[in-house]
Amino acid sequence: MCNKKPYYITTAIAYTSRKPHIGNSYEIVLTDAIARYKRMLGYDVFFQTGTDEHGQKIEMYAKAEGCTPKEYVDKVAGEIRDICDVLNTSYDYFIRTTDEKHERTVQKIFRKLYEQGDIYKGSYEGLYCTPCESFWTESQLVDGKCPDCGREVKPMKEEAYFLRLSKYQKQLEEYIESHPDFIYPESRKKEMLNNFIKPGLQDLCVSRTSFKWGIPVDFDDDHVVYVWIDALSNYITSIGYDPDGSSELYKKYWPADAHIVGKDIVRFHTIYWPIMLMALGEPLPKQVYGHPWLLFGEDKMSKSRGNVIYADELVKLIGVDAVRYYLLSEMPFANDGSATYETIVERFNSDLANTLGNLVNRTVAMNNKYFDGIVQAPVTEEPLDEELKQYCLDTVKKVDDAINIFHMSDAVEAVISLAKRCNKYIDETAPWALAKDEENKPRLGTVLYNLLESIRCIAVLIEPFMPDTNKAILNQISCPDADYESLKEFGAYKPGTVLGQAVPLFARIDPKKLEEEIIAMQKAASESEQAIEEVEEKLDLESIEKIGIDDFAKCDIRVGEVKACEKVKKSKKLLKFTVFDGAGERTIVSGIAQYYQPEELVGRKVLFVSNLNPVKLCGVESRGMILSACHGDELKLIEVSPDLPAGWQIS
Ligand code: MSP
Repeated sequence: MCNKKPYYITTAIAYTSRKPHIGNSYEIVLTDAIARYKRMLGYDVFFQTGTDEHGQKIEMYAKAEGCTPKEYVDKVAGEIRDICDVLNTSYDYFIRTTDEKHERTVQKIFRKLYEQGDIYKGSYEGLYCTPCESFWTESQLVDGKCPDCGREVKPMKEEAYFLRLSKYQKQLEEYIESHPDFIYPESRKKEMLNNFIKPGLQDLCVSRTSFKWGIPVDFDDDHVVYVWIDALSNYITSIGYDPDGSSELYKKYWPADAHIVGKDIVRFHTIYWPIMLMALGEPLPKQVYGHPWLLFGEDKMSKSRGNVIYADELVKLIGVDAVRYYLLSEMPFANDGSATYETIVERFNSDLANTLGNLVNRTVAMNNKYFDGIVQAPVTEEPLDEELKQYCLDTVKKVDDAINIFHMSDAVEAVISLAKRCNKYIDETAPWALAKDEENKPRLGTVLYNLLESIRCIAVLIEPFMPDTNKAILNQISCPDADYESLKEFGAYKPGTVLGQAVPLFARIDPKKLEEEIIAMQKAASESEQAIEEVEEKLDLESIEKIGIDDFAKCDIRVGEVKACEKVKKSKKLLKFTVFDGAGERTIVSGIAQYYQPEELVGRKVLFVSNLNPVKLCGVESRGMILSACHGDELKLIEVSPDLPAGWQIS
């Protein structure tokens, strides 16, 4: 019988649409560090990660690759799991939503919710984003586009099952208010309450009929379970939840202590998921932490920007612990983090090679040189020593405080500060000077003991962040079994221990060479993702609603000549055009101020829709719409040949 306190922690499950980039991998490293720390503290940890494998996109990707969806997800899930392994993450269970047990339980969950009236059949009429497989209401759109991906949405009607979110709205609001730690940090809680819950919850579409790659609704052949009920249930199906009677494992670990998820999916975890659990009559997870995102420089990582880095590739260049260290130290707690070539080099050379590696190397080397590797008993005491000891004890506390609130970069920084303090202690005590005089040997032995004991403390504390480095240091100082308990007091390290060889931990990297290597890696990554991008483009095109020629004929598009152009006051986006339309001049307002300077547009021949109803934008009446072409973040005005007269009609 195990008396350890259970601790259940999860990551989100990754989509098997493509190999995940280093941003996605941040989450598993972060969660792994927490899981390892809790284990070190003596908790009985269950750490789960996995893959989210159903949906229309997968069907499309598989078709493009000429394989079945199952073959496709097997390949990508394998890659995802390999990355988790390369990153040395200590997950206890890797769930796949195509696991038979998961699928069976999801069907049971769906049926139970249906039979008790929390799921009902209706039809959906709304604005649908095909790439995101999401329905939106008018008010949720941003600039008329999908709030998640910024693409066009199209009106759609479809028979579907719905989960009654509205029924639980009040209960959820009360729960969140009375459990202040449930949504973490506070800013995300406010965002959920104010932007989503308080304005009113609409029932959620939970089945689809337009694709097949999903878990079948077992009492209605036309429908498959639509992603979120399937995906979110992973947290309980894996540990044996069953509406007909759950397993002992479930009783032990549920409710989860923490779901670690990215900021974009906090909404699903703090609205849909708790409501599903309320409807099932199960307790809610204790905490959902919405972490920020890792960007590359200022940008999102994406193949079209050519800035994708894969964690496993970076591991080949700088080693697994350096990648883990980089992610954990560079990512802030609340704001997005930014990966750059410079910071990768800086963290490595400054923190790992110069500070930590150097400390361990020179201390072990000195003890080997002056005492044949035998650790001396501390026999002389100076005030300086007391300060170092206290620094060690304070660091243990700082790390604990920081990890308990998931401030990982603070925890990592506390350990590196201790290494810096030790290096300063070396400068202050100058062991090489002490070694010159035989009489100073007891003091020299004491100094080296204090350093080695501090290094032991550092080694134990970095285990959650850099497990291999933890082992490498503990091997060099010959105490492979050092544990967290032994850090309670300074001095548990045994005099008489014989040290191993001083082996450098981190060899400095050449900034220029690394930058070149990363750029080459990014180029290769972008090329390998080209095919995926093409499928997405195709999906985009296919999602566009088809119209008849009569619909098109309703648009009157004409050539216009830009006579004048200026910025609209109080607006960052809008330009005011004076356009000659063949008969006279008209004002047209267009949201392209980020892309063009007004002066450069004067004299150009453009296309504009002439028969739109006039609208007022920032106080200026606009009579028409100037046409541009856009792709992702790019936009270009459509220009026509200068000899086309203004007023000519496009047909
Ligand atoms: N399949 C859903 C989650 C379902 S959970 C029941 C999903 N998958 S994902 O592959 O798109 O994302 C997996 C996790 O990686 C999410 O928590 C997401 O927020 C996170 N990240 C995606 N890009 C990221 C960064 N650039 N940086 C940090 N985390 C990132 O969402």
